[in-house]
Amino acid sequence: MPEKKPSRKPLISGNWKMHHNHFEAIQTVQKLGYRLDKEDYELVDVSVHPPFTDIRSVQTTLESDKIPILLGAQNCYFEEKGAFTGEVSPAFLAKLNVSLVIVGHSERRELFGETDEVVNKKVKAVLRFGMTPILCVGETLAEREAGGTDEKVLGQVKAGLAGLKADQVASMVIAYEPIWAIGTGKTATSEDAQAVCGSIRATVGDLFDDPTASAVRIQYGGSVKPANIAELMAQPDIDGALVGGASLDPDEFAKIVRYRLTA
Ligand code: PGA
Repeated sequence: MPEKKPSRKPLISGNWKMHHNHFEAIQTVQKLGYRLDKEDYELVDVSVHPPFTDIRSVQTTLESDKIPILLGAQNCYFEEKGAFTGEVSPAFLAKLNVSLVIVGHSERRELFGETDEVVNKKVKAVLRFGMTPILCVGETLAEREAGGTDEKVLGQVKAGLAGLKADQVASMVIAYEPIWAIGTGKTATSEDAQAVCGSIRATVGDLFDDPTASAVRIQYGGSVKPANIAELMAQPDIDGALVGGASLDPDEFAKIVRYRLTA
C-alpha cells in the first residue's frame, strides 16, 4: 500500500446539519476543547460546521477560549450581496473567520435542488473570499448497484472543479460521501472508499497535474464512528473525514479526532 503523503495534514470535520441551537453549540465546542489537546491539533486539523445562527457564538467561544478548532459553514450563496432573500453571503462568513465551507452536500443537492453548475459557482465564491471549499460528491445505492459509481462521482468532481486554477484545487478539500452511507449506519468498506478516493485523486491529476493531485485533501464521509475511523484513515488516499451524527457528541467526535489512539 503506498504511503500517505505527509504533506496532507488530516482534516476531520463535524457537519452538525440542522442540530444544536446556539446555546448547545457553545457547550459542544467547549466540551470538545476540554477533550482535545495540543498534540491532537498538531496532528489533525479539526473543524466544526454549525448552523448559520450558531456561527457567531461559536466564533466568539473558540476565540475567547483559545480553542484551535477551525470554524466552518455548511453552505453559502454564490453572490456577494443583493436581492436574494434568505441566502447567506460568503463575504459574511469570511467576516466571521469561517475558514471552510461545505459545498454541494448530497442533502443540498437532493432536497434543495443544487445542480453541478450551482455547486461550481459556490466553490468559486468560497475561494474568492479566501475560504476553503469542501466539495461533496457521492453516488446513490442504485447508481452503485448499477456499476455507475465512478461515472457519477468523477462527473461531479469534474463539474465542481470546472474553470478553477491548479493552485486553487490544490488548496481544496473533496469529500467522498456515498449517499447510501450517510446517516444509515452503513459505511463503505475501507477498500471501497479507498478505491473511489484513489479515482478522485487520479481524476484531479488528469484534469490538472500531479502536484495538484497529491496536494488536494480527500475526506470520506458516511457513518464515520470511533470504531471505523482508524481503518479508513489508514488508506493512502483518505486524508480525513466528514462526520455527521457522531460529531454532535463531543465524546464521540473527540475519539474520532484521536483515532491514532485506537489504531
Ligand atoms: P453521517 O453524515 O456521519 O451522519 O453519516 C455524514 C455527512 O452527511 O456529512
